Order: sequence, then C-alpha cells, then structure tokens
Amino acid sequence: MDLSTTYMGLDLPGPLVASASPLNARLENLLELQAMGAGAVVLPSVFEEQIERDAAILEALIDHGGESYGEALSYFPPQTAQSFDTERQFDLLEQAARRLDIPVIASLNGITDSGWIDYAQRFQDAGASAIELNIFLIPSDPTVTGEAVEARYVDVTAAVASSVDIPVAVKIGPYFSSPGHLAGRLVAAGARGLVLFNRFFQPDIDPDTLSVEPSLALSNGFEMRLPLLWIGVLAGRLDASLAATTGVETARDAAKYLLAGADVVMTTSALLRHGIGHMRVLNDGLADWLSARGASRLSDIRGVLSHGRIDDPEAYERANYIRVLQGYSAR
Ligand SMILES: Cc1cc2nc3c(=O)[nH]c(=O)nc-3n(C[C@H](O)[C@H](O)[C@H](O)COP(=O)(O)O)c2cc1C
Repeated sequence: MDLSTTYMGLDLPGPLVASASPLNARLENLLELQAMGAGAVVLPSVFEEQIERDAAILEALIDHGGESYGEALSYFPPQTAQSFDTERQFDLLEQAARRLDIPVIASLNGITDSGWIDYAQRFQDAGASAIELNIFLIPSDPTVTGEAVEARYVDVTAAVASSVDIPVAVKIGPYFSSPGHLAGRLVAAGARGLVLFNRFFQPDIDPDTLSVEPSLALSNGFEMRLPLLWIGVLAGRLDASLAATTGVETARDAAKYLLAGADVVMTTSALLRHGIGHMRVLNDGLADWLSARGASRLSDIRGVLSHGRIDDPEAYERANYIRVLQGYSAR
C-alpha cells in the first residue's frame, strides 16, 4: 500500500506525523518513530519566553559578571518538565536532521513579532525541513478586540515566513469568529500549512485549596469533532496544506481526517498513552482500511467527504445542526 504523501511541498513516506510533545525530545524516540512509519516528526516547541529568558541571562552575565546569573534566573518561573535549554533543542534538531530521512519540523511558540523571530533562521540553518509556528494567545484583557488578536496572528506569521526559505505551518486554535477567513489571511501572510487545532489551555479550579490549577489531560476521541469540521470545510479552498491534530486514537480516526481532506494527520496523546509502537498500529490499520475499500493510494480517498466534494454540503452546516437537535428523542 502506497501511503506516501506531500505536506507543504515536502515528501513524506506516510501521512501520520508525530506532533510536538516531550516524547519527541529524544533522538532515539525520533529514530523509533521513523522506524514505525511516521511521515514526519515535530520537535517540542521553543517558546518565545524561553528565548527571552536565555537572552536576559546572557545580558546579565555580560553586563554584571557571573554572580548575577542566579539573580537573572530568579526573574523567571522555574523551567517546566518540558522546557529545556534552547541550545539543547538546537542540538537535538541538528542531530535529528542529520540522522533521520523523514522531515524534521521545528516548532516555535510565540505571540509577538519581536526579536526572537530570528530563531526561525537558526532552525533553518540547523537543518529543519519546516517550521511549525504555534501561536497561542489568551486575550484575557476584554478591551482587546478580535481584530487586534487576528492582526497579531497575521503579523507573527508574516514575520516568521518572510525570514526563512523553508515552509512555515501555523498551528492555531478554533476560537475565532470566522476561522476560515483567518485561515485565508494566514496563508496570504505566507503560511504554507495550517495545523488545526491547538488544544486550548483550560486551567481548572481546585475548590479545596481555592487555587487555579494548570491542568493537562491527554485528548479523547470526541475532541476530534471540531478540527474535523474545519478540515472538512476548508479542504480544497486554501492554497496551503492542512494538518489535522487532536483526538487521533485509532486508524479509523486518521481515516476520518483524511476523508475530510487533511494532508497529514498528527498524533501525540495516543503515542504518550500507548507508546511509540502505536505509530505502527496506526499505519498498518490505515493501510488495511484503504485496501478494504479498494483504494491503492491516499489520493483515492482524501477529501471525498469535504464540504466542497460531498453530495450534501449541508451535512457541515446549520441545517444538520437543527436536524440533530430536533431529531433527538429524550428517553
Ligand atoms: C505533554 C504534551 C506536550 C505538548 N507540547 C507541545 C509543544 O511543545 N508544542 C506544541 O505545538 N504542541 C504541544 N502539544 C500539543 C500536541 O502537539 C497536540 O497538538 C495536541 O496534544 C493534540 O493532539 P493529540 O490529541 O493527538 O494529543 C503537547 C501536548 C502534550 C500532551
């Protein structure tokens, strides 16, 4: 079965991509993912705040000598388990780009178009095949307009995309008034791919300790419905690749995203839950599913259930929503 595909002009042996997570922070895991049929790997994000933190430490060292290093460090929150030295991330990228045959995608996570953006060039120089730009902004100030938020997304995208020759994908969340319109603006700003969707950060409240707790739960299959809707709506309408992320647990889930029109399907939670070998399970399952349908390549099925190609596009629209609500019978 030929599972090969392209993503942002890059050749991939298969459509299943290991998305950014701590699992991808070790070279041996990346090599194993490749052996299990991953089409590409995305390295854990380098965060804008992490870059600024490193720069401030460097400045403190240069200006005041080694003894103020500790003080400079204390300005910043302690590193989380996932964040590790920016330089180590560059080393990993360099080694991975040298050792792997599949594309190695570096990830930048930021919300401004300030000085940190030259890191995109460093990614390129270190051998990244592409950059995934994760823009994750919580507009907690209610005076900030949606227009201003979108402008931020577009400006950061334009700044990164114009600073490198390799393709740039933008990973966004779903919460915009018109996600399709923003998607078009991001593509016009230089994005060659869109990764739909970021799982939004949703802190929890602990009623016993009266505190707001950061919480990270692995995804479940139901969460794929929102990205599935927007992949289906946008497929074939943008001059860019579409990557689906969130909720892929089984090969059937991957098939759903491909039917909706995704160029590649990303997975993290399932790999963290079941181990790297699950990448092989997904690939084999997808190949079996394709051959059971008499398909010999991905292009036979990709996008056949997208909004633009399905017989009844209302399936994606309000009419179906009304049908579903009115057709529900209470027990
Ligand atoms: C522990 C963990 C760490 C993650 N780190 C990153 C990251 O550094 N950058 C990023 O863009 N996404 C990160 N993600 C998000 C994943 O790449 C992915 O988009 C998300 O988990 C949804 O996919 P899934 O349902 O297959 O898990 C992380 C997810 C998890 C669970």
